[in-house]
Amino acid sequence: MRKILITGGAGFIGSHVVRRFVNNYPDYEIYNLDSLTYAGNLENLKDIDSKPNYHFIKGDIEDADFIMEIFQKYQFDGVIHLAAESHVDRSITNPMQFVHTNVLGTVHLLNAARTIWNGNWEGKKYYQISTDEVYGALGDTGAFQETTPYNPHSPYSAAKASADHFVRAYHDTYGMPTIISNCSNNYGPNQFPEKLIPLFINNIKNNKPLPVYGKGINVRDWLYVEDHAEAIDLIFHKAKPGDTYNIGGNNEWRNIDLIKKLIEIMDRKLGRPEGTSLNLITYVTDRAGHDLRYAIDPTKIKNELGWQPKVKFDEGFEKTVDWYLANEEWFNNVTSGAYVDYYKKMYEGR
Ligand code: NAD
Ligand code: DAU
Repeated sequence: MRKILITGGAGFIGSHVVRRFVNNYPDYEIYNLDSLTYAGNLENLKDIDSKPNYHFIKGDIEDADFIMEIFQKYQFDGVIHLAAESHVDRSITNPMQFVHTNVLGTVHLLNAARTIWNGNWEGKKYYQISTDEVYGALGDTGAFQETTPYNPHSPYSAAKASADHFVRAYHDTYGMPTIISNCSNNYGPNQFPEKLIPLFINNIKNNKPLPVYGKGINVRDWLYVEDHAEAIDLIFHKAKPGDTYNIGGNNEWRNIDLIKKLIEIMDRKLGRPEGTSLNLITYVTDRAGHDLRYAIDPTKIKNELGWQPKVKFDEGFEKTVDWYLANEEWFNNVTSGAYVDYYKKMYEGR
């Protein structure tokens, strides 16, 4: 029996990871630790929350004493750390929150694991879920490899990079069995509608402007969230201590092309004449420090672990749109209250 702590399990990617582990490993005890910020939503897990091997702990990774207490109490032997502030735009308006959550929160977890494991590393694993944004931005060609030097540009990616450096330092200094993976942009059900795809689905549905940053020529590599969860599962079980893997979708899109494809799908599904929602496209002031292009070289994970994305983009994108259209109540719940203020602050006057 293994006791696995998954942090940030009420968020977008975390909820898919928790579901996968709870369903696929009935002999593991899965502890989902989440402070339920604006981005955390237990509704994301209602299909599995009564399973006997699932446990929810409401708590904050910024609270070092609390983190130490739960390590002491539950004696986890694995950690998969996803909890974070994850939105680049929010990091531009409030960088300190990203230092607190992403840097200090990570170090509190590392300290607790180091103290409780106390050098008995056998059967232990600390797995840090990171992002391709730590590598910085690419020009028109090339792709990030595991050896690409870190060169973050936003407060979000700087905080994630800093956390990753601490993880490596705990491996190199104390011998802690750590693993890191750096993934490209995820899409799929349950993503908070401050991120491009769910935000634009919601706006198209409600005939609201689609705020395209700059010229819309930035490129992102999109991966279906369940493919990421599968890669995390494989890496958690197979990677060696100190290992790093890049995870990507082999699926690069210029923002404007992705948005036009989304409009085509949405108009069809909403029964609107083709191209109706194109007039919602509104070019707005660019994101400060906006990275031009991300792309992942997936050679290592493919050759060593045999992983590649299973979900074709056309299929995953349609499935994603269908999910948001079918889950109006979820959308309404997360876009009421504080979301309205966030939206005004972020987009009015842009
Ligand atoms: P998210 O914002 O949807 O979810 C984050 C979760 O962490 C939420 O449930 C939130 O309540 C929780 N959380 C935040 N602060 C906390 C704290 N102080 N204590 C406890 N819980 C806290 O994020 P996501 O998009 O699912 O990303 C998850 C992880 O994956 C992050 O570490 C992110 O950097 C990384 N990542 C995301 C993507 C992506 O495309 N979304 C790609 C690569 C890597
Ligand atoms: O690359 C992995 C990263 O992907 C993760 O580490 C982050 O947690 C995740 O949020 C995501 O970061 P991005 O900044 O790439 O995602 P976002 O959905 O915010 O934006 C995608 C692209 O769309 C980006 O080039 C900015 C642009 N954009 C975004 C929004 C919200 C717009 O043009 N308009 C918008 O309103």
